Amino acid sequence: MDIMEAIRLRKSIRGYKPDPVPEEVLREILEAATRAPSSMNTQPWEITVVTGKALDNIKQAMMELLKIGATPHPLFPYRPFEGKYRQRQIEVAVQIFKLMGIAREDTEKRAEWLRRGQRYYDAPAVFLICIDNSLKERPLLDIGALAQTICLTALNYGLGTCIDDQGIPPSEVVKRFTSIPESKRIVMCIAIGYPDWDFPANKLESTREPLENVVTWCGDA
Ligand SMILES: Cc1cc2nc3c(=O)[nH]c(=O)nc-3n(C[C@H](O)[C@H](O)[C@H](O)COP(=O)(O)O)c2cc1C
Repeated sequence: MDIMEAIRLRKSIRGYKPDPVPEEVLREILEAATRAPSSMNTQPWEITVVTGKALDNIKQAMMELLKIGATPHPLFPYRPFEGKYRQRQIEVAVQIFKLMGIAREDTEKRAEWLRRGQRYYDAPAVFLICIDNSLKERPLLDIGALAQTICLTALNYGLGTCIDDQGIPPSEVVKRFTSIPESKRIVMCIAIGYPDWDFPANKLESTREPLENVVTWCGDA
């Protein structure tokens, strides 16, 4: 796939077909995506690929924790965005809820949407991207480069993705259902699978600021 086409086509996919993704394809995506750049080639990522029964177990445990009031475990605690950042956050949420037919006051459907996000939008596979605790916050930029490269590479195989930090499982779930040691932590999840193009939220075309709002030119090139 042409690189410009891939960049333009990529979008977050929040509804998937149940079809499993062949392990060979997941492997090829990771082979290519780990060519992503990293600071001084430190390659700080370690990726756990979760599918099948293991994924069901994690999702079920997370749903049970949610029922008893546990909150999602994003990389950074949720704090309200302000100003233009808040506006953009609201805009995309309004777009998604409109496509999904979820009314603002419909707390049950909103809660179900949150649960869906924590279930990795029911994707058949998830990449749990970890870093070693000794590295602190430093490798997050490298993880960003890896994440985007995974999302772009996936398109080449007809796959969709959603970077999903609300799906980061709490440590008790990690301990029970994965072999990720306590010396590592999951910093990002990426849901991956074949998009269900009939799923309303997949019709979302998120907006971007015009360049003049985000780019300053210095010099006369
Ligand atoms: C660091 C990061 C965390 C994200 N976490 C979530 C998430 O928890 N749930 C979700 O539905 N989308 C999540 N997204 C996807 C963004 O909402 C999405 O990229 C943004 O709205 C732009 O839409 P697009 O990806 O379709 O272009 C995340 C994206 C990034 C980069």
